[in-house]
Amino acid sequence: MATPIRSISWISLLGLLSLFITFHQTTNNNSVFALATTSTRISVTSPISNNAPIFREAPAFRNGDTCGGSTAGNTIPPERIIHVAMTLDSNYLRGTMAAVFSILQHSTCPENVAFHFLWIRHEPEVFSIINSTFPYLNFKVYRFDATRVRRLISKSIRQALDQPLNYARTYLAYIIPYHVKKVIYLDSDLVMVDDIEKLWGVDLEGKVVAAPEYCHANFTTYFTTSFWADKELNKTFEGRKPCYFNTGVMVVDVDKWRQGDYTQRVEDWMIIQKKKRIYQLGSLPPFLLVLAGNIKAINHRWNQHGLGGDNIQGKCRSLHPGPISLIHWSGKGKPWLRLDSRKPCSVDHLWAPYDLYRSSRQYFEE
Ligand SMILES: *[C@@H]1O[C@H](CO)[C@@H](O)[C@H](O)[C@H]1NC(C)=O
Ligand SMILES: *[C@@H]1O[C@H](CO)[C@@H](O)[C@H](O)[C@H]1NC(C)=O
Ligand SMILES: *[C@@H]1O[C@H](CO)[C@@H](O)[C@H](O)[C@H]1NC(C)=O
Ligand SMILES: *[C@@H]1O[C@H](CO)[C@@H](O)[C@H](O)[C@H]1NC(C)=O
Repeated sequence: MATPIRSISWISLLGLLSLFITFHQTTNNNSVFALATTSTRISVTSPISNNAPIFREAPAFRNGDTCGGSTAGNTIPPERIIHVAMTLDSNYLRGTMAAVFSILQHSTCPENVAFHFLWIRHEPEVFSIINSTFPYLNFKVYRFDATRVRRLISKSIRQALDQPLNYARTYLAYIIPYHVKKVIYLDSDLVMVDDIEKLWGVDLEGKVVAAPEYCHANFTTYFTTSFWADKELNKTFEGRKPCYFNTGVMVVDVDKWRQGDYTQRVEDWMIIQKKKRIYQLGSLPPFLLVLAGNIKAINHRWNQHGLGGDNIQGKCRSLHPGPISLIHWSGKGKPWLRLDSRKPCSVDHLWAPYDLYRSSRQYFEE
């Protein structure tokens, strides 16, 4: 029997690693955010025999012939690169690793995918864990300076939603390099089961964001009665047909985002929320206020969300009918926690094959 998994302590597991990481501070155009690029040197002085690494190494995924560049050393033309942004924190690291693994596994051109990871705390262990799990991964890590957003965050109905890193997507356009014009933003509690190039290729038709839209969801419920009762605020959606969309999977035209200063627009709503309570959730409602009814709606297959259940109990949910390209455990329940607790929901078994966490391999070998 596998032992129950204790919480991961980076320090104890990796205490023997000696890490030297140099950060370069560069300034972006908007200069609000310190951009920390990839560390330049990591030296491992003594390998740990017992319990490291905590993730097993993923196989090398190589480009096919049609990818424009490859393994052989030819560089991939910039226009073929697919930019993906995700956040990194130690609580969700297992999810992030599974998501990356799933993306590579289903890509025709895995080497064309460039990952941009955003983190708040400088955790050198996390960097080395990614590097050792995916030695061939094209990735960079950036520090998200949470000071600007921290003062704007209001308490929501679920504490996890109030983490500043949840708001990093609002600032994404100014964190990643300026030459990146488009990016796919992904949450850490999902797996891709289709070629990400198809999602990358969607035509935004001039919109800032592309995402699946859910027009049957009761949009009213995302805002408080005081919002709808306010005769100024309730004009917000005039001239639009607002529908709910999930901000965990978005194709973002970051160029347009910068030009239209959408970051400021989202922040303006957070300032209003601080004064009058106009919604109960975290980073989602201000996105809806700014963008609902004005996004490019894409096929629902790109975000089968809600599999974590609701925000309070995290009950089991089943898949919606129809084709699936991405499975998303949004909501309170997370598949790795439910699998570890030995009380998984049936959908959690769809996540398990992408789990690179070591003890799960032991679990399968038993
Ligand atoms: C800032 O943005 C302008 C375009 O608005 C660009 O030409 C310039 O190179 C950028 N500067 C930096 C430091 O990124
Ligand atoms: C990542 O790990 C590989 C060995 O697996 C090493 O050769 C490489 O230098 C590491 N990269 C960085 C940036 O530390
Ligand atoms: C949507 O939710 C609001 C508030 O909870 C409710 O008053 C309204 O009847 C609902 N509309 C529909 C179509 O279910
Ligand atoms: C907006 O608020 C006003 C005043 O409270 C109300 O009369 C009106 O019906 C509301 N409009 C909508 C669309 O809810």
